[in-house]
Amino acid sequence: MRKDAVLCTIPIVGMGGLGKTTLAKRIFNDQHIEKHFEKRIWLCLPEMSEIKSFLELILESLTERKVEVQSRDIIVKKLRDALGEKQYLLVLDDLWRVDSTSWHEFLDTLRGINTSRGNCILVTTRSKQVASIVAADLHKLGKLTDDHCWSIFKQRAFVDGEVPEEILSVENKIVEMCQGLPLAASVLGGLFCNKEKHEWQAILDGSSLVASEDSIKNILKLSYDYLPSPHLKKCFSYFAIFPKDFQFEKDQLIQLWMAEGFLRPCQETPVMEDVGNKFFQLLLQYSLLQDVNLDKYNNTTHCKMHDLVHDLAGDILKSRLFDPKGDNGEKLSQVRYFGWESPSDQIDKIYEPGRQASRSCQPQSSS
Ligand SMILES: Nc1ncnc2c1ncn2[C@@H]1O[C@H](COP(=O)(O)OP(=O)(O)O)[C@@H](O)[C@H]1O
Ligand SMILES: [Mg+2]
Repeated sequence: MRKDAVLCTIPIVGMGGLGKTTLAKRIFNDQHIEKHFEKRIWLCLPEMSEIKSFLELILESLTERKVEVQSRDIIVKKLRDALGEKQYLLVLDDLWRVDSTSWHEFLDTLRGINTSRGNCILVTTRSKQVASIVAADLHKLGKLTDDHCWSIFKQRAFVDGEVPEEILSVENKIVEMCQGLPLAASVLGGLFCNKEKHEWQAILDGSSLVASEDSIKNILKLSYDYLPSPHLKKCFSYFAIFPKDFQFEKDQLIQLWMAEGFLRPCQETPVMEDVGNKFFQLLLQYSLLQDVNLDKYNNTTHCKMHDLVHDLAGDILKSRLFDPKGDNGEKLSQVRYFGWESPSDQIDKIYEPGRQASRSCQPQSSS
């Protein structure tokens, strides 16, 4: 990082599930970084379409207050007040799209707002093109070593630490499947967790686990296929109606599952909330949820879903709704979720008749 520049930009590039967000979070929360940068801002937005909304979000993050609709000049002035001449670190996590003109205009605006030296923007992205717009020097995040993948797999799969002999003999196949991706190792470990020997043998013998470019997608799909109940599968695909990077509150999520009729009490678990808690724990065990927040009693309160896992939930939901041969009766006439993506100023204009059966409505603003 160049200390003499007003603003330096660092892109971290690599495929999904490689650990970019984790690395950026480590940096963001590092003690020295906290000391060095008086102001730290974390944003996760797929594209930089309009600079004003980016500036607005930075301001909201700094002031922890919603910005009512205001002109760009007012936002810039408020940002100047909020930042002063304090050094800042801005993380843009998972930026998918940006054009060169907007990017440079954004930087110029920031340089005009705060002229002290040593400010930094860290961008994580899967796109080399985005990375090359952000800076000429891109940091390509390397894959994990086989040993590291194996260690993540073991930790997730065999929580008590005892690894069966038979698994040791297929270590090579497992690390090959992981392709150096911690997400793959973690989900594969979750899939093997609490399984009998004949079950994981069947998984290993199946055709889905062949190492390829798409390994991560196959592993995620396999993990979904092995979820132990069709109701749990519905609960999983329900995540798709929320925006990416959404922080879920466990209790609220369980209430929503209940309202949707996904939770069926049984003799063993007669209380619906307990069924919901069990499902939630299973999704965590399968590593389909992550970034858990705990309360002081070590109970999970919040969590997130990785964007690749969220993509899978979306694919499952779509395939259930739009498969004309679907045998589960969920045809279009019975659509219960309705979501759309639109710039926030156009959401009011969207009107969709004939969806009276829908129970959940999720506008996903793209600006
Ligand atoms: N070095 C690591 N060791 C163990 N697990 C990791 C490591 N890096 C990332 N992970 C885990 O892998 C998953 C994917 O990481 P993430 O940072 O979200 O990837 P990306 O942002 O590149 O898609 C997360 O569940 C994260 O906890
Ligand atoms: Mg990420």
